[in-house]
Amino acid sequence: MKIALGSDHGGYRLKESLKQYLQELNIEYTDFGCNNEQSVDYPDIGFKVSVEVKNGRYDRGILICGTGIGMSIVANKIKGIRASLCHDIFSARNTREHNDANILTLGARVIDVGLAKEIVRIWLNTDFSQEKRHINRLNKIKLKENKIYK
Ligand code: RB5
Repeated sequence: MKIALGSDHGGYRLKESLKQYLQELNIEYTDFGCNNEQSVDYPDIGFKVSVEVKNGRYDRGILICGTGIGMSIVANKIKGIRASLCHDIFSARNTREHNDANILTLGARVIDVGLAKEIVRIWLNTDFSQEKRHINRLNKIKLKENKIYK
């Protein structure tokens, strides 16, 4: 599995910790920035990572900002992206099983690094359930997307 990783300044430190953790888990990733704690605009990095995932160059993405909210808003503007802001284990597992989420967003100012690692591990290791009701619901999203984004 190949992961596209990105953050703004608010998420920079957590991103650096998660890079080490992904290495420990033997998960391949590319870091799309930012590269230090200088202020940057989360949409710049959020759109870059989301487009990489949408175009299939990466299987999934992880985006981090102060709250995870800005990154989540940005990522969900891109057709085919199902981004989920998760600050607990239940949501991390559920959003993979039910929503087939392809981007995880995290708020570095909301949770600590230990919980973030656990959320990432669960999110990466949980498969979409493939249950008919969830497939139907995702198809409804796809149909609407196809109408809105011609
Ligand atoms: C940056 O200060 C902060 O607004 C950003 O990291 C994020 O929380 C936005 O949603």
